[in-house]
Amino acid sequence: MPTHDDVDAFLTRTLVGSDPILDAALSAQHAAGLPSIEVAPVNAKFLHLLTRMAGARRVLEIGTLGGYSTIWFARAVGEGGRVVSIEAESANAELARANLRRAGVGDRVDVRVGRGADVLPSLEGEEAFDFVFIDADKESNTLYLDWAARLGRPGTVVVLDNVVRGGDVADADATDSKVQGARRGILMLGSDPRFDATALQTLDRKGWDGVALAIVVDAGEAGAAS
Ligand code: DHB
Ligand code: MG
Repeated sequence: MPTHDDVDAFLTRTLVGSDPILDAALSAQHAAGLPSIEVAPVNAKFLHLLTRMAGARRVLEIGTLGGYSTIWFARAVGEGGRVVSIEAESANAELARANLRRAGVGDRVDVRVGRGADVLPSLEGEEAFDFVFIDADKESNTLYLDWAARLGRPGTVVVLDNVVRGGDVADADATDSKVQGARRGILMLGSDPRFDATALQTLDRKGWDGVALAIVVDAGEAGAAS
């Protein structure tokens, strides 16, 4: 009986394949002692395809880590596109920049160092983002969702990572701060009139987790479900 790891391996080798540039980015991340919490390859390609499906030219990523997902986004927006990726740790940001340069996309990515709460206000007044990926400290999910709506426009796609956390998101009494952050994110997506959202559970090499997917709507405009 195949396991979910067998399925993940099959899907990854069949639909994603291997790429020496992405492998090098992950090796550098590993060598630097960063945790292997980047999105799984099947998930990275899912984000990449969503970005292309949305026709996104401007992507905002909150949480760069070593730049693995950032490379996928940079490839999705193409040569004329732009990715702004926010990273709290300056050493991670340096590593990500090196990985992005090696991938040949350094010129279309702006890695900004600082906490989201400090960097996000500086993006106000820029052209709206078409796609926002939130994958940083889970405790700040609602803050990041608020900024996603403010820096986006009706139609902006918002993806929030790690919203299932081994099932714990369904436990209203969970005490873990990351689980609470995931719960608050889902509750906000379900109640804030600026979003129309759903979420999918995922089972990949990182185990049981999930992603929430939302579109920014005109506040006051009825969502598809209402
Ligand atoms: C964690 C963070 C992530 O972004 C992820 O994809 C998996 C785990 C964490 O902080 O536990
Ligand atoms: Mg994540």
